[in-house]
Amino acid sequence: MKKNGMVLMTIVSAAAAVSHASAVSAQGVERAAFGTVAGRPVEVYTLRNAKGVEARVTNFGGVIVSLKTPDRAGKLEDIVLGFDSVTPYIAGAPYFGAIIGRYGNRIGNAQFTLDGKTYTLAKNDGANHLHGGVKGFDKVIWAAEPFTGKGERGLVLKYTSADGEEGYPGTLKATVTYTLTDANELAVEYVATTDKATPVNLTQHSYFNLAGAGIGDILGHKLMIAASGFTPVDAGLIPTGAIAPVKGTPFDFRVPTAIGARIDADDPQLKNGKGYDHNWVLDRKGKGLQLAARVVEPTSGRTLEVRTTEPGLQFYAGNFLDGTIKGKGGKVYGHRTGFCLETQHYPDSPNKASFPSTILRPGQEYRTRTVFALGVAK
Ligand code: BGC
Repeated sequence: MKKNGMVLMTIVSAAAAVSHASAVSAQGVERAAFGTVAGRPVEVYTLRNAKGVEARVTNFGGVIVSLKTPDRAGKLEDIVLGFDSVTPYIAGAPYFGAIIGRYGNRIGNAQFTLDGKTYTLAKNDGANHLHGGVKGFDKVIWAAEPFTGKGERGLVLKYTSADGEEGYPGTLKATVTYTLTDANELAVEYVATTDKATPVNLTQHSYFNLAGAGIGDILGHKLMIAASGFTPVDAGLIPTGAIAPVKGTPFDFRVPTAIGARIDADDPQLKNGKGYDHNWVLDRKGKGLQLAARVVEPTSGRTLEVRTTEPGLQFYAGNFLDGTIKGKGGKVYGHRTGFCLETQHYPDSPNKASFPSTILRPGQEYRTRTVFALGVAK
């Protein structure tokens, strides 16, 4: 009896959970078709909070397709670069809005040695490996499950990366959860486990323009980065291994400074990056979420704060955008019309013993968190 009773209870509560989930998801998270990838349909999920802030996320690459936030006067504008349908994301996008994995940023010579074995990765950036390879986590279909909770709603995305994919060892199970809260915060949580030791460095590659995507360049945005150091790079954007002080250089953003104020200064590091395209070493104290960067767009008043558990931040000023990409609503994305703030471990860590380790081993759990807090300056 008791046993039957327990079985019955399990069934009832599972059924309740299912109907609860679908009712809630119908209310709180809308799902719509977003085209097909190699014949498979993909969806776009709309997360909308009590204040009207709206994030649209597709399960192709976990891409944030749009993010609408109010300006000083309450006018909503889409503040991320992207496309209206999935097709241009498949081949023609420089990682707009995507989840990046297995390794965000570059691995020099597309090679690393781990536990005495040398692994060769896909070369997709000259001789180097960039953002997980030819078909990284930005170009795969993720299993998606919407959810809602008190004052929040979101999307859980899951992807299993096969042993050997893009050259990486081990089967990696990744879960990325987007949560939009009523406090106008978009949280991204990354969790992963593996069955063989492998490098992991997951990030989010949204290109922001707080004045509105496609409206103009980002050079007038005022940026603060909470970092006294950065990792200088060679001409192929691979870190030299040094950590250089930002003091007295165009890389010092400890005091809010317009992105454009020094971007074309005569500086060898800016030449290597064709502008800002570097990893800042965050001034962290202890564990947990800490302020990494704050951006203010003076005309609209929109602000973006980035908090993270990660030790590094890639600030990329959209230097490779050249006006050849037409995005949402037919708007052309010109030079430096979007910036990325990619929370991460440092580039090329698998080849730099002095950098914090990015190696995940069986039995360990990879877990990092980044919050994009949206606001307006008074
Ligand atoms: C990198 C850039 C690269 C871009 C791809 C950024 O994360 O730092 O060097 O060109 O991604 O669009």
